[in-house]
Amino acid sequence: MANTYKAVEVSEPGKLRVVERPIPQPGAGQVRIRVEACGICHTDAATVMGVYPGLTLPRVAGHEVVGRVDALGSGVTRLKIGQRVGVWLIAGEDGVCEPCRRGDAVNCQNPVLSGVSADGGYAEVMIAEARGIASVPDELSSAEAAPLLCAGVTTYNALRNAGVRGGDLVAVQSIGGLGHLGVQFARHMGFRTVAIGRGREKDKLAKDLGAHVYIDAAAEDAAAVLQRMGGARAILATGTSGAAMGALVSGLGVRGKFIVVGVPQDQIQLNAFPLAFGGRSVYGSLTGTPIDSEDTLGFSVLENIRPMIETLPLEKAAAAYARMMQGAARFRMVLVTKNGGA
Ligand SMILES: NC(=O)c1ccc[n+]([C@@H]2O[C@H](COP(=O)([O-])OP(=O)(O)OC[C@H]3O[C@@H](n4cnc5c(N)ncnc54)[C@H](OP(=O)(O)O)[C@@H]3O)[C@@H](O)[C@H]2O)c1
Ligand SMILES: [Zn+2]
Ligand SMILES: [Zn+2]
Repeated sequence: MANTYKAVEVSEPGKLRVVERPIPQPGAGQVRIRVEACGICHTDAATVMGVYPGLTLPRVAGHEVVGRVDALGSGVTRLKIGQRVGVWLIAGEDGVCEPCRRGDAVNCQNPVLSGVSADGGYAEVMIAEARGIASVPDELSSAEAAPLLCAGVTTYNALRNAGVRGGDLVAVQSIGGLGHLGVQFARHMGFRTVAIGRGREKDKLAKDLGAHVYIDAAAEDAAAVLQRMGGARAILATGTSGAAMGALVSGLGVRGKFIVVGVPQDQIQLNAFPLAFGGRSVYGSLTGTPIDSEDTLGFSVLENIRPMIETLPLEKAAAAYARMMQGAARFRMVLVTKNGGA
């Protein structure tokens, strides 16, 4: 077996470079994974541009990772060699901070972050914390499972924890990597599902994904359309524009919830009136825990939900990343390796 592997590292801000590295050994509580597929999430931009807080370069980005365990560190008993597993952003809580001690591990104050504090999945090999790993069901190919580990769990968890009921009007704002999965989950959870994108081109795609209604926010006032429909019980905001988010809050019905999962660079401007008059709320939601990811994979198998993906070989990471940043991906770029991820 070769004693080196290929990785794509961010060597300096904005630069993705293919490098050859010696194969590492997993430490205590860790496993080594032969990566088969890794999705490209918009959050990777914070690593690629070198701006994620606490990040040091060089770093391998990527936190939608599926592969097979090929070496176990000491003390790892739960996982087996050859098992197909998934890793995502929050790849291991510290277990000792206040949120962890209160059972809120997703909000750990000092987690291992794939692609930020530890090397991620734009690589043929990755070291991961055994405690932060999900098993991947056989029904999903590695390339299909990968986006479910960030785009999927983030939207699935936000929707299932929103306190909405079957038949409620639920809107998903922005139809990208997260949004196109959010639309599918909303439909399969039984909500009256509205997709909000920009441009007519996404109308058919959104309906194919299960949206009952598509609103073209470039042509119409999306908040006004939602109000005419009775007001949304929940809006899942997945996009990268704070201005677009702020403008949509008034599309909520009384006591409606605006759930922020997209992390725009610009501020979200809020009008106090729809918040105070009608008890509407705005709050955030961050990805999920290992068991939330396993639930996401399980629900996707149960309801036959799959991400729409475009695959490229690992070595083309820079081109795949550029396509995501241009908003051209339909809807998730997934890197596949020679380990057999397609
Ligand atoms: N909370 C979490 O745990 C979590 C997890 C993963 C990602 N994220 C964040 O979620 C966001 C989306 O990630 P992604 O991977 O889905 O990104 P993506 O695939 O690049 O999709 C982003 C979408 O944002 C919309 N958009 C872009 N520019 C816009 C503008 N100027 N005005 C209105 N909409 C605009 C576009 O949708 P339309 O063309 O349909 O408008 C685009 O498809 C990122 O900020 C990412 O960091 C958060
Ligand atoms: Zn992500
Ligand atoms: Zn913690």
